Amino acid sequence: MKVLIVGGGGREHAIAASVAKSKKVDKIYCAPGNAGIGQIAECVPIGVMEFAKIVDFAKQKEIDLTIVAPDDPLVGGLVDELEAAGLRAFGPRKNAAILEGSKAFSKDLMNKYHIPTAAYETFDNAKEALAYLENADMPVVLKADGLALGKGVLICQTLEEAREGVRTIMEDKKFGSAGNRMVIEEFMTGREVSVLSFVDGKTIRIMSSAQDHKRAGDGDTGLNTGGMGTFSPSPFYTEEVDSFCREHIYQATVDAMAAEGRHFHGVIFFGLMLTEKGPKVLEFNARFGDPEAQVVLPRMKNDIIDVIDACIDGNLDKITLSFEDNAAVCVILASEGYPNAYEKGYPITGLERFNDNDSYFCFHAGTKTDGGDIVTNGGRVLGITATGATLQEARANAYEATQWVGFANKYMRTDIGKAIDEA
Ligand code: AMP
Ligand code: GLY
Repeated sequence: MKVLIVGGGGREHAIAASVAKSKKVDKIYCAPGNAGIGQIAECVPIGVMEFAKIVDFAKQKEIDLTIVAPDDPLVGGLVDELEAAGLRAFGPRKNAAILEGSKAFSKDLMNKYHIPTAAYETFDNAKEALAYLENADMPVVLKADGLALGKGVLICQTLEEAREGVRTIMEDKKFGSAGNRMVIEEFMTGREVSVLSFVDGKTIRIMSSAQDHKRAGDGDTGLNTGGMGTFSPSPFYTEEVDSFCREHIYQATVDAMAAEGRHFHGVIFFGLMLTEKGPKVLEFNARFGDPEAQVVLPRMKNDIIDVIDACIDGNLDKITLSFEDNAAVCVILASEGYPNAYEKGYPITGLERFNDNDSYFCFHAGTKTDGGDIVTNGGRVLGITATGATLQEARANAYEATQWVGFANKYMRTDIGKAIDEA
């Protein structure tokens, strides 16, 4: 079969690597892809929001399955457009991707169906939000309603900061129309865990847990980024946490969406916080996380096409997911300066050491080919993933492999997975 993957980062490279392992797949295309994806797929220069071009390409090449990986095209309804053209697609339709596309929607859903999450209020004008703040406990969390590249969440320590935050979101429109509405939410403390799952509209199957590191600097300092590294499984995701979430969160979310007539077919990412009062949902994403996918997918034993087919056709109850009894750590190699300004276009050396290696993976995020070279082309450049028998071993392997590659202005955190030692 022929598969088209929509997207072009480390997550899409990890998905492409899983798809390439399937015996059912003869040919992979990726729009737009990157230099690493180009080694296992044919990259086509079509952007993820160019829906008409994507649909035309899929029709013309007689694509059997299109996997839509990023949030923007999912929330924008690319799956609906592919289906309307008679094409088979993996990912939630627009009416279900709203689970990620609107924080107000997801909070109201959790409230209505008693899914544990932080207390909140929703506002559609700055005046009421500012009035509400006068009696709110600090710190407080402000969230722009819509998609904001993972940056639309402000944690405010003081009333003054919170007032400023409301103005930034709702009046200055720093996150554009994402800030037409906002959620103001209780501040919670605890450890964060990411849990990815496959969903077929009614059945949910949980993947192995992971933990992201969102801040740019060591010790969780500096600016929020798209993610600087991950490990899987999370030692903090205990059996007790798992059974609580199975009872109160996972199936409840799938059932709630179905009850609302918004059957979810695809991947639900549960961003959880393990609070003193038990696990609570921080956020939902309607897709694989990045870089979570870069540690979870290499450990999955199933043929990903079987699982995706089951999600689309509603047969997921027939599938048992299984994961290697090992661990994986991913360290992101970024361009110095990310997530602010950074330079690009520098040649990358040492990539060949990852070829044909089952324990070390180099997932490309921001790379492109330039003449004969592969050069840096983004803030996050590469995701270096290694497996090991234990998390400690996987971490040591991943950091060793970060030394195999070189490029100008290479930057990474040195403490990815440090929390493992506290478990
Ligand atoms: P979100 O995009 O909703 O996951 O928020 C981004 C990050 O902000 C999360 O990963 C948390 O670190 C933090 N965060 C979000 N909501 C809360 C909350 N209610 N309390 C504390 N931290 C939060
Ligand atoms: N790693 C968090 C995300 O993909 O949103």
